[in-house]
Order: sequence, then structure tokens, then C-alpha cells
Amino acid sequence: MKAEATTITDQPETVIEYDAVTKRFFSRGSLVTALDDVSLSVRRHQFTSVVGPSGCGKTTLLRLAAGLEPTSLGETRYLGKPVRGINTAVGYVTQDSNLYPWMTLRQNVEFPLEIRGVPAKERRERADEYIAMVGLTGFEGHYPYQLSGGMQKRGSIIRTMIYDPSVILMDEPFGPLDAQTRMVLQAELLRISRLKQQTILFITHDLTEAIALSDVVVVMSARPGRIKQVFDIPLSHPRDVFQIHAHPGFSETYAEIWDCFRSEVLSQQSIRAGDVAAEVAP
Ligand SMILES: Nc1ncnc2c1ncn2[C@@H]1O[C@H](COP(=O)(O)OP(=O)(O)O)[C@@H](O)[C@H]1O
Ligand SMILES: [Mg+2]
Repeated sequence: MKAEATTITDQPETVIEYDAVTKRFFSRGSLVTALDDVSLSVRRHQFTSVVGPSGCGKTTLLRLAAGLEPTSLGETRYLGKPVRGINTAVGYVTQDSNLYPWMTLRQNVEFPLEIRGVPAKERRERADEYIAMVGLTGFEGHYPYQLSGGMQKRGSIIRTMIYDPSVILMDEPFGPLDAQTRMVLQAELLRISRLKQQTILFITHDLTEAIALSDVVVVMSARPGRIKQVFDIPLSHPRDVFQIHAHPGFSETYAEIWDCFRSEVLSQQSIRAGDVAAEVAP
């Protein structure tokens, strides 16, 4: 009996499941297939990254899990149940920063704690700690319009991290940040997500970032988005994101995934070149 129970709890449970998902949009009078027959399981306590060329449906993948879009075919499930309507159980860091314009930075960062009933003193302390972590001390009283794009982005990332959701969707969260800030946040995210055993579905177009942070890296094909290959990342922990190139096994892992990813990046370049050719053609 005991052995059986151990086996069951030890098995990684699927948190988000895309089951033969196709997503189409009507756009400018025609039908665009954003995702084509995507099946993917995001497992509990794992850090799963999705890499793929721009326009391959990465954001759409997250919007389906967040319940902001319905599937066209197939099903998205959260903890075994079909996602219908907004999925409030997940934290979602969107591609664009989405701070509330009528609140100061500190009010924005405190807000998720406020709605969870955390006392004022404690939430202020925690907010200031997170604000300091991303180098925004001194800007607590600023409104979003008084902050640069990168500062707003940092604010929206910590606004999700501060309340420790057990499942987080992150859409290219570190994209617009400078290299140093980016690594500081990568290191913090890696540390916190492992400490709290969070389940993370992370979108990036940066393969180094994906490998540094993840247990699993999913490579998507250029439009229409399909899963091309799923890689387990064998790098040991702790990982030093500042020196990830020196981590044993990094180069081999990078080379193997890049071999799969390269053709998608190149095919996207040729799609772009084709678009340009079509535009300049008489
Ligand atoms: N609401 C929408 N209406 C029409 N087309 C959309 C919509 N959202 C996404 N698309 C199209 O679906 C494809 C995938 O988009 P997206 O998921 O944003 O890709 P990615 O995040 O990988 O860049 C693109 O061709 C995009 O133009
Ligand atoms: Mg996107």
C-alpha cells in the first residue's frame, strides 16, 4: 500500500494540458492558423519554456491557458478540467506591461496582496523588498506613465511574483530589459520558483535563457505553430545564470536544441524576405 501511494505522489502531475489544440483567427478577411494540432503537458513543479520564432503562436498558447481565448479544435485543460472562461488560478505576466495607470508603482505591486487580505504594514514591506530587488527603489510613488518601458515591465513582473502563485504563465517577461537586469531577474525567478516549487510556463525567443532556467524546453515551428520537439534539460542545480555558458553540459545542450531551432528561425527569415519581395514587387 505504502509503496503504491509513494509511486502516485511521486509521479509528476500535469497542470496544464493542451490536447490536440488548433487555434484559428479571422484576420483581415482570412483565416489564420496560429496553432495547429498542439499537444503538450506542463508538469507540476517544472519550469517549461517554449521557444519559437515570432508569430508562431506562443502568446496564443498562454492566452488559451489563461482562458482569454477559446480553442478552435481540441481542448486546453487546467488540473484535468477544460479551461472555460478566465482562469484566475494562474499568475500571468503578459508580454506588454499592464500596470494599472491610476496606481503608483507601490500600489500596483501591493495590490495582489491587498486583495488577499495581507495587512498594510506587511504588504508595504514586501512590496518595497521586491521593488528594491528590481532596482526601482526611489520610484515607489511614481505612476506608470512616469516610468520607462523597462521599469514598467519590471513592475509588472514583481506584481505577479510577490503573491507566489503556484502556477505562472510568463510571456517574454525579460525581453525589453538590459542584459544585467535580465540576469538578476532570471536568477531571482529561478531561485524563487525552485524554493516555492512553482509550475512555470515561460515564453522566450532566447535559447540561452530557456536552457538556463528550464527543466523542459519546447521548440515550436514557424507559423502555423506546431510543437517541433521537446527537450529535457539535464543541467544540474544550482545554476549560475551569470555564468551559464560555463555550466557543465550547457554547450552540448545548446548545440542540440539549436540544431532543431535553427531551421525554424531561418524559415521565418525567408518568410519575412518573401513578404518584403511581395511588397516591393511591381
Ligand atoms: N486576436 C487575433 N486576431 C487575429 N490574429 C491573431 C490574433 N492573435 C494572434 N493572431 C495571429 O496568430 C499568430 C500567432 O500570434 P502570437 O500567438 O501572438 O505569436 P507569437 O507570440 O509567437 O509571436 C500570428 O500570425 C498573429 O498575427
Ligand atoms: Mg508573443
